[in-house]
Formats: sequence, structure tokens, C-alpha cells
Amino acid sequence: MSHNQRIVSGMRPTGPLHLGHYFGVIANWIKLQEAYDCFFFVADWHALTSEYADPTRIKGFVPGLVKDWVAAGLDPDKCAIFQQSQIKEHAELFLYLSMYTPLGWLERCPTFKEMNAELTQKDLNTHGFLGYPVLMAADILMYKPKAVPVGKDQLPHLELAREIARRFNHLTSSEFFPEPADMLTEECKLNGLDGRKMSKSYGNSIKLSEPLDEIIPKIKGMKTDESRLRKSDPGDPAVCNLYPYHKLITDPARLPEIQEGCKNATWGCVDCKKVLIESLERFLTPLHERRAACTDERVAEILAAGNKKAREYAAATMADLRALVNF
Ligand code: TRP
Repeated sequence: MSHNQRIVSGMRPTGPLHLGHYFGVIANWIKLQEAYDCFFFVADWHALTSEYADPTRIKGFVPGLVKDWVAAGLDPDKCAIFQQSQIKEHAELFLYLSMYTPLGWLERCPTFKEMNAELTQKDLNTHGFLGYPVLMAADILMYKPKAVPVGKDQLPHLELAREIARRFNHLTSSEFFPEPADMLTEECKLNGLDGRKMSKSYGNSIKLSEPLDEIIPKIKGMKTDESRLRKSDPGDPAVCNLYPYHKLITDPARLPEIQEGCKNATWGCVDCKKVLIESLERFLTPLHERRAACTDERVAEILAAGNKKAREYAAATMADLRALVNF
């Protein structure tokens, strides 16, 4: 496959994935694995930039993330699944790229400013955290990908990776790093069960690995169209917190019936939730089966194969780069 068919993306191992991750990121990866030479990795060093004071949890989250990916439908026979910290070349490229990266670019990075303001309980005034986008540039540029599928929040990092590539090319009078394009992932349209953004920290999400008997009471308590107080009031799927779930998870053939029932007040929210519970069961059962089949031994095998493939590419990039910079 020619180099411009490569795709690289990563995720930090910070806990179990939920439906928001599935529809926001993973569903797109699953499509991409059919058409591109994909490298998907667990960004454990990136997790360390904020968790360095207590890194023990990161290790536990690594196999869980791989299991969630496989459960969701990533196929290790179609894409390379690897672990960032096992490819030491990423650290070496991070070092080289650091030499070329002006401090001002990093200090101005919006994610640096925001995270530092938000996560006040952690000290993120570190060299490592400031360098987060440089490490990410190394992850990306290592594989000279055609594009990087990311959400909107990661675009400033991708832009920095391109600027670093440009500056490196300029200062080495080379075209060593092709500039990776962005491939913007559509934002997930699901809010959390309480109507706020779905987030692990709000406790309003449905995890991909969550047993159905734990999901059912959550759906029963889920917020719907708040202006619909009684069953006899007509509802509006367009403003309902639950309807987007039907749009993504329920058989499309059933949507007209749900819409009509809500608008005519012939259906109550309880009816609607019953259908959603059935839909979730249908959607999650194969995921749960694949997850159960993905044992720790299987995870080790998957990572060993993915790491091997990544390492081959990384070793070749670094050999060329060292020659170029005379080291
Ligand atoms: N920063 C990304 C996130 O938090 C994770 C990440 C690390 C990444 N390295 C990457 C994503 C390289 C794409 C490419 O989501």
C-alpha cells in the first residue's frame, strides 16, 4: 500500500469507553479500517502527562481500552493496534521534534491554557504537559500518514504537528515529513442521560461494557422532553434528549412510529424507553460477546502483533531521520 493510504490515531487510556466514544470516534475508525492502512494506538505516555503523580491506574486501563476497541468492532487483522510506550522511537522522535518547536507555539496552544485552568487539582505546569502536542506530533509524523481522524478538540494539536513538520522540513532542507491532513470526525450527537454532555466524570454515560441489567434502570430514569409533563401532552422528538439515541441505535424502520407516537401523545416516554432498551440490547449484545472473547492473553497477542508492525515503520523513519540530521 502506498504511504498516502496510512491513517494514524490514538486515545488515552483513562477509563472504560461509553456510547459517546463509540459514536464519536470508534464507529469512524471501524469504517476506516476497511479502506486504509490504519494504526490505532493506546496513548499511555499521553495519559502520563496529567497522571504522573499516580500512574498506577494507567496500566490497568490499557488492556481495557484494547478490549473496548475489539468489542466495538476494530479488527486486529485489518488494523495495527499498538501501545505507544512500547515503541521507544516515539520518545526519540519527541526529543528531536522538541528541538525544533518554539516555546511560544506550545504556550499559545488553546488546550494547554484550558486544561491548566480547568484541572486545578493537578499541577500541569510541567515540561511534559507543555510538550503534549510535540509528543502527539511525534506519534503522527512517525508514520507519515495521509490523514489523522480526530475530533474538533484535537485540531489545534494537529495544526501544531503540521507546523512542526513544516519547520523541520525547512530547517533540514528536506521534505521529510509530508503534512498530514485532518479528517474531522463528526461530533457525537448523544447527550448524557441527564441531558448534559456525555462524560465519564458526570456519571451520565452508558459504558460499552456495562451489563444490561445495570443499563435498564438508567434508561428508565433518563431525561426526555422536559416540556412534556403528562403522557397526554404531545412531545417533540426534536428537543427530546432520548430521541437521538433512537436515531443512532434503533432500527430506522421504527423511527416514524416513534416520532408520530410522541407528537400525537399516543406514546408515552415509558413506551419510548422500552423500545430503546430493546435496541440497546440488540446493539450491545454482540459487543459484550466480543469483549468476553477478548481475554488478557488475546490482548497481549493483539498488542504484540500491532507493536511489531508499528515498530518496523518507526525504526525505518528514525533511521532515515538520524541520517538526515547527522546523528
Ligand atoms: N490527544 C489525543 C486525545 O486526547 C490522543 C492522541 C495522542 C492522539 N496522540 C495522538 C490522537 C496522535 C491522534 C493522533 O484524544
